[in-house]
Amino acid sequence: MSDHESTYVPKTGIEKWFDSRLPIIRFGADYMSLPTPKNLNYWWTFGGILALCLVIQIATGVILAMHYVPNTELAFASVERIMRDVNGGDLIRYTHANGASMFFIAVYLHMLRGLYYGSYKAPREMIWIIGCVIFFLMIATAFLGYVLPWGQMSFWGAEVITNLIGAVPVVGEPILIWLRGGPAIDNATLNRFFSLHYLLPFVIAGCVVLHLWALHHAGQNNPVGILIPKDRQKKDTVPFHPYFTVKDGFAIILFLIMFAWFVFFMPNALGHADNYIPANALQTPAHIVPEWYMLPFYAILRAIPDKFGGVVAMFAAIGVLFVLPWLDTSKVRSMRYRPTMRTFFIIFVLVGMGLGWCGAQLPDAQVVPGMPSFTLFDGQLNSYLWLTRLLTAYYFLFFLVLMPLVGLRETPRPIPATISEPVLPTVDDPLGAGSSEQKG
Ligand code: HEM
Repeated sequence: MSDHESTYVPKTGIEKWFDSRLPIIRFGADYMSLPTPKNLNYWWTFGGILALCLVIQIATGVILAMHYVPNTELAFASVERIMRDVNGGDLIRYTHANGASMFFIAVYLHMLRGLYYGSYKAPREMIWIIGCVIFFLMIATAFLGYVLPWGQMSFWGAEVITNLIGAVPVVGEPILIWLRGGPAIDNATLNRFFSLHYLLPFVIAGCVVLHLWALHHAGQNNPVGILIPKDRQKKDTVPFHPYFTVKDGFAIILFLIMFAWFVFFMPNALGHADNYIPANALQTPAHIVPEWYMLPFYAILRAIPDKFGGVVAMFAAIGVLFVLPWLDTSKVRSMRYRPTMRTFFIIFVLVGMGLGWCGAQLPDAQVVPGMPSFTLFDGQLNSYLWLTRLLTAYYFLFFLVLMPLVGLRETPRPIPATISEPVLPTVDDPLGAGSSEQKG
């Protein structure tokens, strides 16, 4: 699917009027008729799900902002008022709070899909890089939003994260004061966090437009990972509507059922109970943890003994994604045909989950309670800290060593010549069992 000739013919007077002034109907019609690879599976529905998540977050957020008060004396109470006194306020707040988690579930699956099928490789580097910018902005927006209810976790989370900037040599301290609007987290901090939390989703929306523009220019990847040759366009693609509007629609309904399950039956399951205690600068919570979707990066931050080193590692963990298209040396896009890399990918996914788990633990707690710690490595080998370090090492090893090396050394399985070959009968393979592996 790439830039294609417009086939839209305006029929009514209104359509003709618009078409010669602002061809917005043509734009929509062309989008709907875009030739789309017919083998896209359900992993390709997360883009649409993400677009819906963004719309839900903006719509509920704008309504919350009508009632929320960005003042340290009133913020906590204003959120409680939304929950109790504003009509439908509890539903809107729970949708917004759980919506953030749903957004991250979808984005992680969307990114892993891209990683597995090599969607970041040429000619789609720009789609991927804009995606990485969106991901970074999503993290920033979620962090800013979490501060707004002004509960204990809001306050202390802000304290820990802004403090990290102070670890940057020379410029860290002035930047920290500038960011907070003063030496400590206070009213000025809350005000600017609110302002930025309102702004960033619209910046994300702008980036999504660029993301889709780049996507439609380069054309969509597919599970086989091959480019569809010009002479196969008719055979191997179908119009986006109705084929993929229906498929996306079905996936969206399933996703919304899961979303609604959280909102209606377990609205606080993904949050932290301490955030229902008003912020208190004089009482540090026993255990400060970010939201679940930040935990892997939080774990990486804590894996490094030096504070500044931790900050560098945490940003590097996101930064490495930006250069991924140049780290992967493989000529084959889809990991379907790269068994070695697929194994490392599965380990990577498990490591990511392991990092998230470690991020939620006290770093010095024992992995196996009761098991003695070894005297090696500062006497704490049986602690989450060492497990986190091991997993962090794999995270970076995956991108910086395995991606370049495996691409050069592996022998990929034979790739089908067309995307139809693995599923449709051919002369060589009358049953359509598909496998070029059998032939090869
Ligand atoms: C608000 C967040 C996002 C939205 C609304 C969004 C939307 C979309 C949509 C609608 C598609 C086409 C359908 C699909 O492939 O699922 C797409 C494709 C893609 N997205 Fe995103 N995206 C977002 C975030 C990201 C992020 C964070 C990344 C990676 C870091 C990313 C990387 C990609 C790539 C590589 C493709 C091309 C897929 C292919 O052709 O195989 N996106 N995105």
